[in-house]
Amino acid sequence: MTATVTTLAAMHATLRGWRRQGLHVAFVPTMGNLHYGHMTLVEAARARGDRVVVSIFVNPTQFGPSEDFLTYPSTPEADFAKLEELGVDLLFAPSVEEMYPGEHCHHQRTVIQVPELSDILCGAYRPGHFTGVATVVNKLFNIVQPDVAVFGSKDFQQLAVIRRMVYELSMPVEIVGAPIAREPDGLAMSSRNMYLTADQRQQAVELYRTLCAARDALAAGAKDLPAVEADGAARLEGHGFRPDYFSVRRADDLQEPEPGDRDLVILAAAWLGKARLIDNLTLTLTLTG
Ligand code: PAJ
Repeated sequence: MTATVTTLAAMHATLRGWRRQGLHVAFVPTMGNLHYGHMTLVEAARARGDRVVVSIFVNPTQFGPSEDFLTYPSTPEADFAKLEELGVDLLFAPSVEEMYPGEHCHHQRTVIQVPELSDILCGAYRPGHFTGVATVVNKLFNIVQPDVAVFGSKDFQQLAVIRRMVYELSMPVEIVGAPIAREPDGLAMSSRNMYLTADQRQQAVELYRTLCAARDALAAGAKDLPAVEADGAARLEGHGFRPDYFSVRRADDLQEPEPGDRDLVILAAAWLGKARLIDNLTLTLTLTG
């Protein structure tokens, strides 16, 4: 049975009981509209904790003024059925007022800022987004006090921001990154895929295919990274996308690779109709002479 809790007070009461029993808590934060990708995170959490907590909270502070906060898909009954089927112990589903009491949440003065990492790639196109994410994840960690928290590597930059926040602020939580869950054709699963028309859905797989082509080119020895990036962006444009970026970066800090770097990630964000899609592929270059 999955219990649903909506207040901080009720969360604390449940957690006190678990702590007394010495139980390990694994946590999966989400914004709901759960799909198979979220389910894989829950499975990973179940393997790592005695109790699994999932949160569903569409966090207003990580959406820009012209973004889709008000239309973000909400499917509470279907979400709850999925969590129950997976044996999740506790669903934390607070209201905006419970999370940001008093003043309007956008005027919250205390925030967590992770500079540099938050300002590049998606951060350059979504100012304030990663501050909103880091702040709400920090709040959720304080409320749930998990031993382990699981995040998807589909949001590769988000995962990097959270890892750095946890490391630099010495937060006592282990961060686990889970692989990207994909549709059978390769499209990364996402709540925002439902903004696509049927035709756009057919086209959408090109994002993954373009990343694969770039990865293959790098694996085959391509050295001119700006050319690989320009080819990727042009290919996306040719398929009707409006790319924000198509970028080859160092996997650990998302900076531009230097000669000798071997662990790379190719990240892309591109608009297709009303949907802003993101995806990435990591690769490790083998040493060549
Ligand atoms: P949301 O988009 O609901 O995603 C919740 C978690 O599911 C994130 O860790 C995300 O990376 C992961 N996820 C989404 N699609 C995935 C896929 N195809 N494969 C694997 N994992 C996937 O990310 C957020 O919510 C919010 O920013 C949040 C962290 C909850 C803070 O508000």
